[in-house]
Amino acid sequence: MIRPMRPVIVAGNWKMHTTPAEAGELARTIARRTNEPGVVRVLCPPFVCLTAVRDALADEPAGRGVAVGAQNVHHEPAGAYTGEISAPMLAGLATWAIVGHSERRRDAGETDELIGRKLRAARAAGLRTILCVGEQLADRDGDRAIEVVDRQVRGCLAGANPGLAGGDPLGFTIAYEPVWAIGTGRNARGADAAEMAGAIRGTLAALGFAGGGEDVPILYGGSVASSNIAEFMAEPSIDGALVGGASLKPDEMAAIVARAGLTAAARAAAA
Ligand code: 13P
Repeated sequence: MIRPMRPVIVAGNWKMHTTPAEAGELARTIARRTNEPGVVRVLCPPFVCLTAVRDALADEPAGRGVAVGAQNVHHEPAGAYTGEISAPMLAGLATWAIVGHSERRRDAGETDELIGRKLRAARAAGLRTILCVGEQLADRDGDRAIEVVDRQVRGCLAGANPGLAGGDPLGFTIAYEPVWAIGTGRNARGADAAEMAGAIRGTLAALGFAGGGEDVPILYGGSVASSNIAEFMAEPSIDGALVGGASLKPDEMAAIVARAGLTAAARAAAA
């Protein structure tokens, strides 16, 4: 089988940081500092900052190659859901969406079933999606990490068409984010993340994904920084990073995307 050349992606999840007054300038600075043509860059600010980030990137020559993403979407397209934002509402504001982040599983009680509905709603609205999965520390310590993530992937994809990407190489991405590594400064080891990426592709293959899931990009997330990005990008099964805290720091993003660019160039040369 000829292995597809998967894209290299660096997505920044700003979480609940920045105001509309600050976000545009931060996005512009990051765009200028990360102008690396081989790397797909995505910035995911809070909903209220999407307009500012979109406009700042449109005004900045280096910003044209940076996509904007939402951190969540509702599972219904419209309705009586106070305080929620649906995928179709993001038209013109964002082209990507994160679903299933562990902070939403924890704080908003999102289940795999609900996350699956969000995923399908986002795809139906034409958004490129990043589905987050990852185990708790007790699962890793108890040797259950692969089993837990397999269950999450199956639960989120239940009923989903394996053609979820819709022919778009960026339509469907998975981010492996071990919960114990998020915001803790304690990142997973590259080899463990690679093992998990292999296991996730095994699950996708079992679910009937074309090419055994080999064309689905898998990112690592959890305390990614300039100091450890190389460990992940050195793994052929890892296609980039979903960056939290470091994505608010232009110096960090510059170094992270620069290292991802080396992998992108090596893949292009080998293709
Ligand atoms: P940190 O990079 O801050 O650990 O956050 C990771 C994350 O949750 C990205 O979605």
